[in-house]
Amino acid sequence: MRIAVVGCGYVGLVTGACLAEIGHEVVGVDSDKQKIEILKRGRVPIAEPDLNDLIGKNCREGRLRFTDELEQAGKTAEAVFICVGTPPLPDGEADLTALDRVARNIARYCPKSTLVVEKSTTPVQTAACLLRALEIYSGSNDSCFEVACNPEFLREGSAVRDFLHPDRVVFGVQSERAKGLLTEIYRPILDQTFNCPLHASHHGSPRPMLISTDMNTAELVKHASNAFLALKISYINAISDICEILGADVEQVARGVGSDPRIGPDFLRAGLGFGGFCLPKDIEAFVRIAQKSGYDFGLLREVQAINRRRIEVFLDKVKDALWVISEKKVGILGLAFKPNTDDIRFAPSVEIIRRLLAMQAAVRVYDPLAMDKVRALFPKIAYCKDAYELATGCEAILLVTEWKEFQELDWRKIKSLMDRPLVIDGRNLLNPAELRSFGFEYISMGRRR
Ligand code: UDX
Repeated sequence: MRIAVVGCGYVGLVTGACLAEIGHEVVGVDSDKQKIEILKRGRVPIAEPDLNDLIGKNCREGRLRFTDELEQAGKTAEAVFICVGTPPLPDGEADLTALDRVARNIARYCPKSTLVVEKSTTPVQTAACLLRALEIYSGSNDSCFEVACNPEFLREGSAVRDFLHPDRVVFGVQSERAKGLLTEIYRPILDQTFNCPLHASHHGSPRPMLISTDMNTAELVKHASNAFLALKISYINAISDICEILGADVEQVARGVGSDPRIGPDFLRAGLGFGGFCLPKDIEAFVRIAQKSGYDFGLLREVQAINRRRIEVFLDKVKDALWVISEKKVGILGLAFKPNTDDIRFAPSVEIIRRLLAMQAAVRVYDPLAMDKVRALFPKIAYCKDAYELATGCEAILLVTEWKEFQELDWRKIKSLMDRPLVIDGRNLLNPAELRSFGFEYISMGRRR
C-alpha cells in the first residue's frame, strides 16, 4: 500500500522504515526541512539499533523516501500515519498542537478515502477529536476521512525489533473498512511472513495477538500499559527501600516475586527509577486526564512520587559516603536514560549532575553514546573518552546507566586509577562480592552493603 508517515521523529522513523521493510511504499514527511535534508543525505538523526541499516536498505530499494511537503505524498496515500510529538505542557497535559496542524494539512491535501491512523501517544478521546477536526477543516462531515488509533509499544534500544516482532497489535477502529485496511497493512507482521535479513535471528517469531477495539479503548490500552510498567518499577523501588531498612536483598526478592507467572520477572529492576520520554510524560498525562474526568488517580500519583524520590535516595548514599562533596572529583558512568540509546530526556543523570554541581563537586562524565546531548546542557563539566579516564583521580564513581559494557570493564584497573575506590551503583549492575574482592567500597540499591 502507499503510506505517508507524518513526523520523522523516533516513532515516525521506526514506523516508516518498518512499514517499508514489510513491503509498503512509504513517504516520511516532516515540516523540519533540515531534518529531511539529513535523511535525504542518508543520515539518521537518532541512534537506534538497526534503524540506519533499515532506512538505508529501503531507500536504496525504492520503498522509502522523505519529503517536507505532505501535499504530494498525501494525494496518493491510502493511509496516513500520524507520528508527531505530543510533548508535555507545563501543567503535564499533552500538547496536541502538532497533531492539530497535521489534521489541517491532511484535510487540505488528502483524498477523503484516506485512512488516518493516530500513532502518536495521545490522551484518550483524542482520535475522536481528530476526526472532528478533520471534518471541520475539510468543511464536510459526510463521506469524511476514516480515523483509527494504532498505539505503538516501542522501547528505545529495541524499537525495530519491537515493531517487526510485537507481542500484540492494537487497532482502535470505528468500521470494518478501517479494520480491514489496517489488517492489510500489518498482514506480514500479523502472520510473521516477511523476510528481513537484518533480523534473521527472529525468523519464526510467534504471531502477535491482534486486539481490535474502539478508539477510546485503544488509546487507554496505551496509557494503561505504560502506567502499569511504571507501577511495577515504583513498586520494586519501594520494596528496595524496605529491603534496606530490614536488611534484605531486593534482587532476590524480585527473583522470588517475578518467578510467579502472574507477576513476571520484567520491570522489577530496582534502582534510579524510570526516565525517558515515554513513561514519565505518559503517566503525568494519564493522571491529568483522570483528574479532568473527575477521577483522582492517587495510585499513579504515588508511583510518580516514589520515582521522584529515587534521585534523593541515591544522592543520600553519595552524601553519606563522601561526607563533604564540594571540590571532590565525582565520575558519572552512564548518561542516557537507559542503555543502547543516546536519549537523555528525563534521564536521572541530568538531575544528578545538576545537584552535584550545586554542591560544588568536580563532575566528570562518560557515556558510550549520549555525551554530545549532555554537553549541550552542561558545557563546562569534564567529558572523558572512556571509563578509565573518568576514574582517574576520582573519589567516587556513580553508575547511573546500566550499559552492558560497564560490566565488562577492567575494574581492577579502575581501582588503581581512583583516589578513593568508591562505587555507588544506582542500577545494581555490578557484582558486589567481586567489586569488594577487588578492594572497592561498593554501595548499591536495596542490596546488603
Ligand atoms: C517505554 C515502554 O516500555 C514502551 O512500551 C513504550 O512504547 C515507550 O515507553 P522506553 O521508554 O523505551 O519504553 O523504555 P523502557 O525500557 O520501558 O524503560 C523505561 C525506564 O524504566 C528506563 O529509564 C529504565 O531504566 C527504567 N526501568 C525499566 C527500571 O528502572 N527498572 C526496570 O525494571 C525496567
